[in-house]
Amino acid sequence: MSPKVVATETQRTRLLTALYIVQEQYGYLSDEAIQRVSERLDMHPQEVYSMASFYSLYKTRPTGKYVLQVCEGLSCYLADGADRLIDYLREKLAIEVGQTTSDDLFTLQTIPCLAACGSSPAMRVNDTLHENLTVERVDALIERLRGD
Ligand code: FES
Repeated sequence: MSPKVVATETQRTRLLTALYIVQEQYGYLSDEAIQRVSERLDMHPQEVYSMASFYSLYKTRPTGKYVLQVCEGLSCYLADGADRLIDYLREKLAIEVGQTTSDDLFTLQTIPCLAACGSSPAMRVNDTLHENLTVERVDALIERLRGD
């Protein structure tokens, strides 16, 4: 019997945890990993992929060690942050949005809103939120991460 296309609430709850664990172990959610998770949870692979690609927490492609997600939402834009930070990071890292540095250290992404609008501009680095950013603070952060 093939899995149902619409998962139960219990399956969805388990799915989020399963995806997180698999990503922690392998770095991202490959097609093979999504297939295996769907089999384990008796869910349709398309539904698993939809959940994995909906949440910005999950990665469906390989990334650098540090994923820089710069908020480009309205508050961050109005705080004169989003464009400036993205341009700065593009130049400093010599990559475009969506790309990874050649040393596999940084991946640059943009995100619609990080729910930190009151302390914009904001950026998430892996699981850590950074708020009230300036170019100087981002520069110091990048240098610290390079030293880790
Ligand atoms: S618009 Fe940037 S955190 Fe909401």
